[in-house]
Amino acid sequence: MSNPLRLGIAGLGTVGVGTVRIVQRQAALLTARTGRDITISAVSAQTRDKDRGVRLGDYAWEDDPVALARRDDVDVFVELIGGEDGPAKAAVEAAIESGKHVVTANKALLAMHGQALAEAAEAQGVTIRFEAAVAGGIPVIKALTEGLAGNEITRVMGVMNGTCNYMLTRMQNDGLSYDAVFKECEELGYLEADPTLDVGGIDAGHKLAILSAIAFGTQVDFDALTIEGIERVTIEDIEQAADMGYRIKLLGVAQMSGRGLEARMTPCLVPASSPLGQLEGPTNMVVLEGDSVGQIVLRGAGAGEGPTASAVMGDVCDIARGLNLPVFGVPAAELKPVAKSNQASPSSYYIRMELFDKPGALARVATVMGDAGISIDRMRQYGHSSENAPVLIVTHKAAKDALDTALAALPGTGVLASEPVALRIEDA
Ligand code: HSE
Repeated sequence: MSNPLRLGIAGLGTVGVGTVRIVQRQAALLTARTGRDITISAVSAQTRDKDRGVRLGDYAWEDDPVALARRDDVDVFVELIGGEDGPAKAAVEAAIESGKHVVTANKALLAMHGQALAEAAEAQGVTIRFEAAVAGGIPVIKALTEGLAGNEITRVMGVMNGTCNYMLTRMQNDGLSYDAVFKECEELGYLEADPTLDVGGIDAGHKLAILSAIAFGTQVDFDALTIEGIERVTIEDIEQAADMGYRIKLLGVAQMSGRGLEARMTPCLVPASSPLGQLEGPTNMVVLEGDSVGQIVLRGAGAGEGPTASAVMGDVCDIARGLNLPVFGVPAAELKPVAKSNQASPSSYYIRMELFDKPGALARVATVMGDAGISIDRMRQYGHSSENAPVLIVTHKAAKDALDTALAALPGTGVLASEPVALRIEDA
């Protein structure tokens, strides 16, 4: 077949090798679906002499991904190196300058430099596609930019870091501490080289920043997110939340209101019976809400060779078919800077604390809540094992300012035996 689409693949780790495998194994299918042969001209990685379990001898080799990106026999530069700066960024910029489309799985690069790269690509008449960057094999970018193009998006939510969801599920189901599960993940090789990217919520935050930009037509702005990782989630909170009918998830939520964009990636409680509450193990879930469609739920593998390479190849196929959409769904020049809401939308909160077990302690806490304008929905004291009384409160919807006022006033009651833990309860 004439007019093949020729790929240059930079990065031959799990996803790069998976992409090569699909190109080789599904050649006939890819041609039937796109009307073009999809071929690989050249590849690049840090180490050449390594058995990757895949045939690479037919392809030219480049030590330098920038040289790969500039090759005349490459139509699409596939960036699977990773990292927000360094060779990945240099090579993507070189590809764009050379008038080549880019397909990437690099969430950090897009979250930090997405606007500049989109402007550069659109000025050159090429596109950057990044389905693999968000929630691995789940086609969420395509769902937002194409399937839901007729909707005003009202909210985007998701569990988008499989490692954190695995850790929280393991704590929940097996009663293990955070430290024990972290160690297990280290041994299993589930954590990123810098584990803070996972457990600190940064990897998931990068993904949310990208989704939020597409959903609300803004420039990507990672700094507009509130991010908190799962490092401080305890088995006690997981168990107490479960007892109250909730699960704790590292949940991303982005929503736009008259006050501006509210976007956070934080540990939250969700109803145990909700799709997000039922999500176990390393699986990802993205919930999209639009004014016409209502709510849709997408669930699938957020990482791994097959799922991530599947997303890469979906993008490659779209380019082969001639699709050249604006990088973030609308032309980059029309994307507005993020106007960040200075106030989180009202929410119920879970508050756990230990009180000195003495007459009037609960009443003092209730008074602080009432004085802050917070109405208590449920409150209970549970199993004492010491002279202190652990107490759980679930509030009715309250403003974040009111919660902060109450939390600041609680030590003044003189009845607190531990610092309170407060977690948002998200309607899911
Ligand atoms: N470390 C990520 C996760 C995979 O656990 O979901 C890629 O972002």
